[in-house]
Amino acid sequence: MKASYFVIVLLLFSDVTLTSGFIDVVVGVTAYIYTLFKGDNLLPFDPARFEKDLNENLYGQHIVSKVVLKAVSSFMTDSNPNKPLVLSFHGTTGVGKNHVAKIIARNIYEKGDQSSHYITFISEHHFPHKDMVDMYSAQLKQWISGNVSSFPQSMFVFDEMDKMNPRLVETIKAFLDYTARVDGVSFRKAIFIFLSNAGGNVIANLALDFWREGKEREEIQMNSKGMETQIFQNIFNDKSSGFWHSSIIDHHLVDHFIPFLPLELKHVRQCVLAEMASLSITVDHDLAESVVREMPFFPPEVTIFSVKGCKSVRQKLLLYIG
Ligand SMILES: *[C@@H]1O[C@H](CO)[C@@H](O)[C@H](O)[C@H]1NC(C)=O
Repeated sequence: MKASYFVIVLLLFSDVTLTSGFIDVVVGVTAYIYTLFKGDNLLPFDPARFEKDLNENLYGQHIVSKVVLKAVSSFMTDSNPNKPLVLSFHGTTGVGKNHVAKIIARNIYEKGDQSSHYITFISEHHFPHKDMVDMYSAQLKQWISGNVSSFPQSMFVFDEMDKMNPRLVETIKAFLDYTARVDGVSFRKAIFIFLSNAGGNVIANLALDFWREGKEREEIQMNSKGMETQIFQNIFNDKSSGFWHSSIIDHHLVDHFIPFLPLELKHVRQCVLAEMASLSITVDHDLAESVVREMPFFPPEVTIFSVKGCKSVRQKLLLYIG
């Protein structure tokens, strides 16, 4: 907007007659230059806007919406939090764990998930070699403290947390404590989010039980059938998981373990329609139906939950329209 005012002002002070095509180009270029100089700061946090964003853009995750809204809103509106916000997202593939991390980011930073304060690590991508764990650990420590000392509200997302080397989990742990102060830097305003498939099967089975008992999905609560405890146990019992070895859990450093439910057909359909909108394709319900019917569902007898959630929905859709 500002860019176009700028161009209009320029035009008022010049004698040149310009074609509208040329004006478009000038406006475009000016807008681009303007974004280059735009800051990478915090957005004023607005809980109502955040709630609306979650309601409109997250499908089938009533527990997540509720817990994340509450946890992030009270953290962001607290001028003096006593520890960093630490959330652990659990669920099978494609249920929206990364998506929610990005929704949080776009409600916190002007540049959303493009912000340099939104930092993601994927275990097997960033830390692939077991024998280099000392180097990774030193690097990670430096990155976290470097970013937080220059911008206290930095957000760190660790994807595939269940595949993280236990040594690196310990490195992260040092930043999560109430008293965490590393080299004089306080981490109380930072946000840490762990994503993992750990506990995904427990959550899926519980959702299936509810369905078999004829109950509404929305009746599932955080503490239904001891779900939170079951997730813990599942993580503890997985001997290969970095979580299992770590003391993150028994020191209560994680504020919330948040279960993502497996998605049903209607949720996947919503994802397809949302993709159409984001690709600027005319919304076509028949096409959406065909895409959804192509996806695998489980368990085999009743095919109620999507195996891959909303993952690869975009690719499927592009196949159809390509
Ligand atoms: C912040 O973290 C990134 C890793 O994503 C790293 O490249 C960068 O050097 C860090 N910044 C500081 C100031 O340490």
